[in-house]
Amino acid sequence: MKVLVVGTGAREHAIADGLKDDCELYCYMSKINPGMSKIATFKQGDEGEVEKVAEFAKENEIDIAFIGPEAPLEKGIVDELEKNGVKCVGPSKSAARIETDKSFMRNLFEDYNIEGSLIYKVFDNYEDLSEFLDDFDRDVVVKPVGLTGGKGVKIVGDHLKDNQEAKEYSKEVIDNAMGGFAQVIIEERVIGEEFTIQAFCDGKNLVPMPAAQDHPHAFEGDKGAITGGMGSYSDSNGLLPFLTQEDYDKAVKIMKDTLKAIATEAEPYKGILYGQFMLTATGPRLIEYNARFGDPEAMNVLPLLKTPLIDICKAIVDGTLSEAEFENKSSVCKYIVPDGYPETEYAGELIEVDEEAINELGAKVFYAAVSLEDDGIHLSGSRALGVVASGENISEAEEIAEKACDFIKGNVYHRRDVGTTELVEKRVSHMKEILN
Ligand code: GLY
Repeated sequence: MKVLVVGTGAREHAIADGLKDDCELYCYMSKINPGMSKIATFKQGDEGEVEKVAEFAKENEIDIAFIGPEAPLEKGIVDELEKNGVKCVGPSKSAARIETDKSFMRNLFEDYNIEGSLIYKVFDNYEDLSEFLDDFDRDVVVKPVGLTGGKGVKIVGDHLKDNQEAKEYSKEVIDNAMGGFAQVIIEERVIGEEFTIQAFCDGKNLVPMPAAQDHPHAFEGDKGAITGGMGSYSDSNGLLPFLTQEDYDKAVKIMKDTLKAIATEAEPYKGILYGQFMLTATGPRLIEYNARFGDPEAMNVLPLLKTPLIDICKAIVDGTLSEAEFENKSSVCKYIVPDGYPETEYAGELIEVDEEAINELGAKVFYAAVSLEDDGIHLSGSRALGVVASGENISEAEEIAEKACDFIKGNVYHRRDVGTTELVEKRVSHMKEILN
């Protein structure tokens, strides 16, 4: 069987790694990923040029395409590939609106009475939003309606001082049509601990994976700018130290209800559904959905998958998905990023990665925004590579991941605190405070 992975980063490298032993693997990537280029036949090209990707898939008689990032989904890559006879692990353009159109997503919760939503309102003019915010006595979150690569969301109490600043930022979002819509979505800010559940979906069946927690702030102690994610962990029982089975099940129920609603309102959803939740005093609330694996969270769960990923892909495209088994192990992923990140001052510099030494420790490397050139691996301005380890518990996995990070040399840094007992306990105490 021939499988094509579309995408360039560590998430796609983890997907490709999970498939490599069981199929003839192809990749379509915008930069030459040092890991994927070693294990697949590849073409370098813009993943957003969906007709070209489909042409490549057709030429190579690809059976299944696995779409990594959201941008090609928004451009209708699945519709284009399916038109050309290639089955896909990834939703159609219409079903992917669960990520690409936040107003579609929130309306779905309202129209289908799905639990776990938030107070929200969509605006297309300053006057109405200003009036709303004058009367709203809680902090808010301002979100562009469309995709902004994780950079458009601003939170009062974090990036914005108060609801007055939220008004000004909302105006900017509307005026500049940020994310492709001259609209803004204002949501109530909810307090709690965030967690991620990713699930395989075949249009009607949903099989959830172990929960994970990402760390969006750039620096240790949850300081600094919000990034795409600096690292994440998962626990051996599939839950998180602050997340009970009951809360996990409630979140999965929200995702299953959403899957049903998407099928009615748009089209059956096939692929990976990523739910980002806030665990609050009143249970899990949905913060946002992504129509693809999380990055870094994919790196936590995929290496622990016992069911061959290829079998899951076949079941997704055939509509026969029933289960996915994972090892009962914890995992920790730490992202290595250029010094100064999220600024881009070290773009282009060489780094050294001793993959053999990392593998000897039992850890893995998944390459992200780096490129392989004749003289070695070069940084770009973004996250460089994910280092992942598993263990009997989070602390064991963390120790291995931390040791492995020492084998990467160059102008880079990572968050040493991701997965440490101290930080995990901080999350647990925070949740206890909220529940009391
Ligand atoms: N970890 C956040 C994301 O994948 O969007």
